[in-house]
Order: sequence, then C-alpha cells, then structure tokens
Amino acid sequence: MKTLLLASALFAGLFVSLTAVPVPDPAPAPYHAFCKTMLFAGPCTDIKTMLVTQILASSPEYTLVSVVPGFVKANHTSPKTPEGESIIISLNPTILTGGCRMSALSTSNGFTSLFDGGQNYCNLYNLVSASGLMKEPGFMEITNEWACLGYGLATCS
Ligand SMILES: *[C@@H]1O[C@H](CO)[C@@H](O)[C@H](O)[C@H]1NC(C)=O
Repeated sequence: MKTLLLASALFAGLFVSLTAVPVPDPAPAPYHAFCKTMLFAGPCTDIKTMLVTQILASSPEYTLVSVVPGFVKANHTSPKTPEGESIIISLNPTILTGGCRMSALSTSNGFTSLFDGGQNYCNLYNLVSASGLMKEPGFMEITNEWACLGYGLATCS
C-alpha cells in the first residue's frame, strides 16, 4: 500500500513537471501525432498548388478533404493504418522575405496505439518528398522535437 502511494505520488509528480515545461510554438501535439514546419522562398500559392497536386496524384492513399485560404486538409489511409490519419497543413506568407511558412500536422484517428512508430512522420515526409517541395528554393525544415516524438524512429517505406 505504501509502495502504491509512493508510485502514485511519483506519477503525479511526473505530470506536474511535464506541464511545467514551457509551451513551444506550435503548441505540443498529442504523441500519436507528428508536426513539421518548413520555410520556402517562393509564395504560398505555389507551395499550395504543388501540395494539392501531389495529394490528388497519391490517391487513394491520400484523400483531399478541403482547400481553404491558408489551409489544406487531407486524409491518409493504408493497409497498415486502416483507421487513417488526418493531415492539416497551414500556409502563411512570411512578411519579411515574401516566402511561405508551412506547418503540417499528421494525427492518427485510431487510439489503439499510443505511439505510432513514426507513421505520422512518414505521412508528411512521403508527401513532401514526392511533391518536390524539398527542391524548392529556400527550403528549410524546422522540427520541434518536443511535439514530434516520432522523428528519428521512423523507417519510411
Ligand atoms: C477524412 O477522415 C475523417 C476522419 O476519419 C472523416 O470523418 C472524413 O469523412 C474523411 N474525409 C474524406 C474526404 O475522406
């Protein structure tokens, strides 16, 4: 009983210390999610066109959900992940450089596995690499390790 109390005290302490960590930008995603921020020298309209073209070309694995000013939404499903993942991409012009800042978030729809083994990372990586966006002028990748736990453990196929 004493051990149990101690264990729950430690557990509670863990959560207290976790919530005390400063909130990074963008806000931390649940750990069955992956996010990535990329910078481009070109305008967001070009980046958006390339993304949408690639999503449509990658049917049926990727499905275009909606395209609205500043956002592209898509779904990803594969035999490995039948419940699928939701992908939300935001595109914001960078004022000073006239470029584009793109933030992409992939979230698992299923809650069967808390840790996705890098699936959400691969969804974004495969989409971005197939679209040719990594070859765009001024491409830069910013990874927030706190929000992006799948990074480095992923083996993308
Ligand atoms: C995308 O996935 C969500 C969540 O599973 C689902 O509700 C929605 O109907 C899907 N949209 C399309 C266009 O497949």
